[in-house]
Amino acid sequence: MQDFDENSMGGRVKRYGRVSTTMAGLAARLMGEKFLGIKIARSDHAAELTQALGNLKGPLMKVGQILSTIPEALPAEYAQAFQQLQSNAPPMGWAFVRRRMKAELGVDWEKHFQNFSQEAVAAASLGQVHKATDHKGRVLACKLQYPDMASAITADLNQLKIIFSIYEAYDKAIKTSQIYDELKDRLFEELDYVREANACRMYSHILRHEKNIHVPEVIDELSTTRLLTSTWLEGKKILTYVDRSVEERNIVAMNMFRAWYIPLYFYGIIHGDPHLGNYTIRPDHGVNLLDFGCIRVFRPDFVNGVIELYRALQNNDMERAVHAYEIWGFKNLSKEKLETLSIWARFLYEPVLEDRVRVIGEAKHGVYGRETAQKVHQKLRELGGGITIPREFVFMDRAALGLGSVFIHLQAEINWHQLFEDMIKDFDEASIAKNQKEILTQFHLA
Ligand SMILES: Nc1ncnc2c1ncn2[C@@H]1O[C@H](COP(=O)(O)OP(=O)(O)O)[C@@H](O)[C@H]1O
Ligand SMILES: [Mg+2]
Repeated sequence: MQDFDENSMGGRVKRYGRVSTTMAGLAARLMGEKFLGIKIARSDHAAELTQALGNLKGPLMKVGQILSTIPEALPAEYAQAFQQLQSNAPPMGWAFVRRRMKAELGVDWEKHFQNFSQEAVAAASLGQVHKATDHKGRVLACKLQYPDMASAITADLNQLKIIFSIYEAYDKAIKTSQIYDELKDRLFEELDYVREANACRMYSHILRHEKNIHVPEVIDELSTTRLLTSTWLEGKKILTYVDRSVEERNIVAMNMFRAWYIPLYFYGIIHGDPHLGNYTIRPDHGVNLLDFGCIRVFRPDFVNGVIELYRALQNNDMERAVHAYEIWGFKNLSKEKLETLSIWARFLYEPVLEDRVRVIGEAKHGVYGRETAQKVHQKLRELGGGITIPREFVFMDRAALGLGSVFIHLQAEINWHQLFEDMIKDFDEASIAKNQKEILTQFHLA
């Protein structure tokens, strides 16, 4: 059997090149359509794009997932093509893995392990995960990065720039520069597994009193900037829980709620990637939280803004809402834009505004919030002038939508209002600032 070797890695890079060409072609055609009235066969071209993206996985996938939550950042056909991206790139073969491991841990790297799976057990966005056991008998997950991912990310970001420029040429509703800057920073951070190891340890500390939330333990002596080794946490995908009793589904939902929002409301920190692969559920309904490659640290007053907006909506207090949006980083909002933004805010906050046991609404057409987002987008376009999305909004929004879809899948029946009020009842901006500063320093993330 032929290994997926350095040569084929070259193939990967070439594929990135091909994608860029396709994107550039796409830009040209869309421009043609707009300015010259030339109709293009969009669905054909979408197929072309899908083919070019074909075996690709990695950072571009994440970008695709995020883009699909920004309505009309791409024509529907392209959004679909992005969503179809599968993580089916050929894994690194054993010979290659051995060379990579030697490079990370030294020539006698195998001595550290009782056993080490020759095949990858899971794909990672910048590499792959092998299961291993050390001499203490601990079962481990070794996330090994592909070489040259920095240039892959650079290539992705170039494509993203093209996608955004197509969008902005077409549509003036949303200004994307801040979104781009935010994605760029997070994607580059994800390269550094030492940073991720620190974030993992920090989460372990933040959630130390939560008996039902589990974070892997990082094995320092077996980790580097390109290899992250942590204890293996066994669990099932959340989707296998949808057929359980409502009591069980509710417990899982509440554990997820705490896993996501304790870090936010006590430290101003959120796990920015509530993707289905990034957590599993244990037989006792506890949550295993994985993947600390995309952690967003907010200014403490931003968290105050999140709560202020909730209070403003609760009391129908427009003045307070204006102030809250300013804290979020929205600038110069006309009354009409403010009202339009509030349609989105009401959608996101609705479950916590109602003091009753309820499920979270339906995910129409598979994407939670897409319909409301489209409506908001349409209105913004009609109003003209565009709106700049503050950087902080990107992952806050994504986390809220990601968790929303989890709760929909689970059909959890919960009084979200009580749960939320309980979470924020001791909220205090000053103590968040202090907590945050302390742990960022303690875990070398300052
Ligand atoms: N500690 C762990 N225990 C069990 N499975 C893990 C662990 N770490 C990673 N995995 C598996 O590997 C996959 C990829 O790891 P992840 O950290 O999410 O990589 P990425 O940051 O590239 O998404 C996860 O979706 C999960 O299936
Ligand atoms: Mg992941």
